[in-house]
Amino acid sequence: MDDYVRLTYQGREFRLPLVAGSEGETAIDISRLRQETGLITLDPGFANTGSCRSAITFVDGERGILRYRGIPVEQLAERSTFKETAFLLINGALPTQKELTRFSVLLNDHSLVHEDMKIFYQSFPRSSHPMGILSAMVNALRSFYPELQNLEEEINITVTRLLSKVRTMAAMSYKISRGHTVVYPRSDLTYCANFLNMMFDSPVKPYELDPDVVKALNVFLILHADHEQNCSTAAVRVVGSARVNLYAAISAGIAALWGPLHGGANQAVIEMLTEMSRHGNLDAMVARAKDKNDSYRLMGFGHRVYKTYDPRARIMKQMAHVLLEKLKLSDPLLDVARELEAIALKDDYFIEHHLYPNVDFYSGIVLRAIGIPTNMFTVLFAIGRLPGWIAQWKESMDDPAWKLCRPRQVYSGPGERDYVPIEER
Ligand code: ACO
Repeated sequence: MDDYVRLTYQGREFRLPLVAGSEGETAIDISRLRQETGLITLDPGFANTGSCRSAITFVDGERGILRYRGIPVEQLAERSTFKETAFLLINGALPTQKELTRFSVLLNDHSLVHEDMKIFYQSFPRSSHPMGILSAMVNALRSFYPELQNLEEEINITVTRLLSKVRTMAAMSYKISRGHTVVYPRSDLTYCANFLNMMFDSPVKPYELDPDVVKALNVFLILHADHEQNCSTAAVRVVGSARVNLYAAISAGIAALWGPLHGGANQAVIEMLTEMSRHGNLDAMVARAKDKNDSYRLMGFGHRVYKTYDPRARIMKQMAHVLLEKLKLSDPLLDVARELEAIALKDDYFIEHHLYPNVDFYSGIVLRAIGIPTNMFTVLFAIGRLPGWIAQWKESMDDPAWKLCRPRQVYSGPGERDYVPIEER
């Protein structure tokens, strides 16, 4: 097989090299295209554009495969913890016992948030969305902890600090939004147990940790931990390519994740299911989603990469069922979700468009069972995605081929024209 493709343009032939990935995906290397031919490529939404080589996460959207550093997400969800998976993503291999212990100690050492940051929190209007607050506060961390340099040790501390503090900050924003006392992190608790305790413990009602709930949170976070070059990760890489500090790059990722077409879909799904449960209008909503003249979409359905069932959605659906049973809870929204899925999967429109439930479709049911309020859902996604963003940022910083991200455009505005003074317009 040739290791290039031929491009013929204006009677001249150009050879564009082919690049093969370790799982057989082949790409055309166009890095010299403009220089050699004067042409650029046009690819709205980057649906056909690989922006980097990456050894972190493998997704096969046609076969429904997701692996972190080669390990299937199903195995990690069953056997790992979020902390261990975070280590795997960031460092490239599962930790030894010694490495895991050291990682835990570092996470504990950096879990407190500067007391002055509380003043920031208290200044946000009560109605602020927690994702807006989180994005701003992560950016603000740079002012409180400015000593990041390029030394390996400094980067490791910054990375651990982020992983640990984002969890504390998320719980803190919830407590402050409710007007409750902030609960501090405890060094005797695991990563997820600590977060749950900071969210739900109160001076009048101590929080009782339930191992099933802690496990469910671990699985939720593992399933969200990375997903190669998605919208928010691309934002982290693009912003990071300007060599801005890590906090600012992650803050950009949080902002991108907030959108309802991306991580914000988990909140939007619950709002949609609540509306359907209240009005029993599933068929009408499905009809609206199919109507070309209506911008309405079924939230939690469809994916840019998965053209089959999202493997994360399969695990999440099973977990929603098991968790509700274990906690002896019933959630009418789970019944609506199952009914909606059954209708959609039999519908020609959804079949032809390859629209299946994505990770966000069942995740809200799990979070509700844990007790997480709806407006915190996307924050939980952000906590989960943090190791992925960090790993991708680190990889881009270490990649000699990684450059300032600066796409081109095909200009479609007016040709040159003269300035017209205001009195003549
Ligand atoms: N409901 C109804 N129709 C849909 C849906 C949906 N949820 N998703 C896509 N379609 C249709 C589009 O209308 C379009 O139809 P057409 O070709 O007849 O015009 C076709 O499917 C392709 O849609 P695009 O928007 O071009 O596909 P894209 O790959 O850009 O979209 C996206 C992916 C944004 C996730 C889309 O499926 C969507 O909006 N889903 C709902 C929001 C959601 O659940 N987002 C979470 C994604 S997972 C994550 O980010 C963590």
